[in-house]
Amino acid sequence: MKNFIFVFSLFAIFLTVNAAQFQLNKRAATFQRCPADNYKYDLLTVAMHPDPLISNETAQFNVSGTLTKNDITLDKTVLRISFADMKHLPPISDPYFKTFNKSYAAGTPFSIYASDVSVPTLPDLYHIIVVVGVPTDNPNITFDIYGCAFASVGSAVSFK
Ligand SMILES: *[C@@H]1O[C@H](CO)[C@@H](O)[C@H](O)[C@H]1NC(C)=O
Ligand SMILES: *[C@@H]1O[C@H](CO)[C@@H](O)[C@H](O)[C@H]1NC(C)=O
Ligand SMILES: *[C@@H]1O[C@H](CO)[C@@H](O)[C@H](O)[C@H]1NC(C)=O
Ligand SMILES: *[C@@H]1O[C@H](CO)[C@@H](O)[C@H](O)[C@H]1NC(C)=O
Repeated sequence: MKNFIFVFSLFAIFLTVNAAQFQLNKRAATFQRCPADNYKYDLLTVAMHPDPLISNETAQFNVSGTLTKNDITLDKTVLRISFADMKHLPPISDPYFKTFNKSYAAGTPFSIYASDVSVPTLPDLYHIIVVVGVPTDNPNITFDIYGCAFASVGSAVSFK
């Protein structure tokens, strides 16, 4: 349920900006900064294989970046990768999680490699949402997001 709420709220944000500014890429995923006030989420760099993803298969993600304000803490901070249908709720699968096995102080470049991300059955138009942060006990904010990137992928050229 927490996962659902998390993706739902991100998804709601995306819906509002989608039509205006996102160019859908026919082939490869282009990851960009997640919308948020004051650029509060650091931008992550995401390399993904295969690209485009293949439904029902496993993919590899290499996520790197530098968090400006938050530390990454061994056994606490997690990488989270989720998929959302642009046209329908709820999210199309449970998110993938991987916990960091190394600490990185804020300002230090990090990378984390996920070799076993299960790709769901993908719709025509979908978002890939990659987040680094920490799950919380607060039911209102299930996840503290530190870094984020997302890609809009689809077979259509425009989406309104
Ligand atoms: C992941 O990306 C980092 C930073 O670009 C790089 O140093 C590392 O070799 C990459 N790891 C894999 C498994 O591709
Ligand atoms: C952390 O995980 C990576 C990739 O799974 C592995 O190469 C590395 O040795 C691990 N580091 C520690 C400190 O366990
Ligand atoms: C993926 O799995 C779903 C459910 O098992 C199936 O309906 C669908 O045809 C599969 N898609 C591909 C491309 O294999
Ligand atoms: C969650 O939100 C509700 C309604 O806004 C508020 O009353 C409650 O105090 C919040 N809980 C926490 C733990 O912040």
